[in-house]
Amino acid sequence: MKKTAPLIRNMKASGEKVVCVTAYDLPTGLAAERAGVDLVLVGDSLGNVVLGLDSTLPVTLEDMARHTAAVRRAVRTPMLVSDMPFGTYEGDPSAALASAVTLMRAGAEGIKLEGVHEAAIRTIARAGIPVMGHLGFTPQHVHEFGGHRVQGREDGARVVEEALRLASLGVFAIVLELIPATLAEEVTRQVACPTIGIGAGPGCDGQIQVFHDLVGLADKQYRHARRYAECGEAFQRALEGYRDDVKQGGFPTEDHGF
Ligand code: KIV
Repeated sequence: MKKTAPLIRNMKASGEKVVCVTAYDLPTGLAAERAGVDLVLVGDSLGNVVLGLDSTLPVTLEDMARHTAAVRRAVRTPMLVSDMPFGTYEGDPSAALASAVTLMRAGAEGIKLEGVHEAAIRTIARAGIPVMGHLGFTPQHVHEFGGHRVQGREDGARVVEEALRLASLGVFAIVLELIPATLAEEVTRQVACPTIGIGAGPGCDGQIQVFHDLVGLADKQYRHARRYAECGEAFQRALEGYRDDVKQGGFPTEDHGF
């Protein structure tokens, strides 16, 4: 069954966990589609895992639109959400709406933005665009946080209050990134919409992970992630085999010719 924002919101009541993963292009989108996940996020982690950048800050709206369109060609059943990149929603709400419209025209079925930007969220939601929230460690604020640090250890009440504000604005789900598991449980108890954790413990209503972390394509092994495959090593071995075959005359053979 096609996953939509209302359907994902209702998964909280049914108690079924919401499975979310990022994707950035046709092959990663196809893997997510075929695995039967509930939601695919074209994350601005694109900057880190695909474009080789140090942070998500340089990622542009054009980058997000191009990669959203590529993932759209693969993803049919899961809901497809696209990240609003840094600098495209924090100011004028009508500019935020224009950014969201660009992503929807590229094929997104909803957008995600970091923090509580009430006027922008109201304006985007009024246009009929489902909004996903994102609290805790919000990567576009990495410089403010002074690095990749767990949030909400001392000021958990602020995270709860922000989540309640987001829920009252009608977001269909909230990503909770790098916060203590007990705080994530508290937020999950208090808000009406599903919480989607990444480094926020098992008590959330769902989980999201970065594709490259799950399949072993990322250089680092993060505490909040589990590797289900070693695709980086498999790619390496495949290319080494190809190199050796070409060097030694083992490829191509007559079978590969015309
Ligand atoms: O950009 C991204 O990949 C994200 C997830 C980590 C939630 O925002």
